[in-house]
Amino acid sequence: MRIPPLTGASVMHIDVLTIFPDFFGSPLQTSILARAQQADLVTIQAHDLRDFTEDKHHVVDDYPYGGGPGMVMKPEPFLAATEHLIARAPAGTPVIFFTPQGQPLTQRRLRQLTEYPHLILLCGHYEAVDERVRQTVVTEEISLGDYVLTGGEPAALVLIDAVARLVPGVLGNESSAEAESFSQGLLEYPQYTRPDELRGMKVPEVLLSGHHEQIRRWRRKESLRRTLARRPDLLATAQLTEEDHNLLAEIKQEQQQQAPAPAEASADI
Ligand SMILES: C[S@@+](CC[C@H](N)C(=O)[O-])C[C@H]1O[C@@H](n2cnc3c(N)ncnc32)[C@H](O)[C@@H]1O
Repeated sequence: MRIPPLTGASVMHIDVLTIFPDFFGSPLQTSILARAQQADLVTIQAHDLRDFTEDKHHVVDDYPYGGGPGMVMKPEPFLAATEHLIARAPAGTPVIFFTPQGQPLTQRRLRQLTEYPHLILLCGHYEAVDERVRQTVVTEEISLGDYVLTGGEPAALVLIDAVARLVPGVLGNESSAEAESFSQGLLEYPQYTRPDELRGMKVPEVLLSGHHEQIRRWRRKESLRRTLARRPDLLATAQLTEEDHNLLAEIKQEQQQQAPAPAEASADI
């Protein structure tokens, strides 16, 4: 058969449908993704869409009806391949098509995706994919951002990387995924390592204190400060505790104290 059998009993299996399966070679054989696969926590198979063409030249694109620039990916190979993949996947497996017209990928959606043992990812190329693919086999459309890539492969790789590290056991230290940006709706606090002083810049005293509660509070406050400064939109949906609201009030008070008094600034003019 054109699709190799599923191997082992990994926690998550990801099928990728692409015209460039080699694109995934090196990234999937490197670092955490490589280890995750060796440990059978995540298995990933990139399938060549051309294997599902019926003609001798393995053509996957054609001219757009109505004219215009670029080529449109033919529906038949996409449908044949995706239906094969769906048939061997558990019922309800998400079939994700990457497109700039999809929902932006978020950490929240990635966490939800870890609840599925199997994902099917479809990569488009050229000007478009025939609309009937989206209408029949696709359950979800995901965008990497408001810009246009040449193909869905980089988007698939980003999703694979980001979802794999959330699969239990993939990261050595589970708590590292819990504290980092977006996991609690906030950006992560600043991090430091040795030396404790570099070019006149000192590591905040509290981090050297060994006082766990003060360190926790400092980190939470800096996380809030950073989110307020860089992504205030996140604060609207983050689940903030009473302590968080108090810390935010402290931060705003500090900012007011640091801001130059408007009367002084205009007095010299
Ligand atoms: C050149 S793009 C086609 C863009 C299409 N003409 C449009 O305006 O929506 C080719 C393929 O790259 C992928 N792609 C491009 N930008 C993307 C993005 N921001 N997020 C996810 N996939 C993207 C999609 O799979 C798309 O089918």
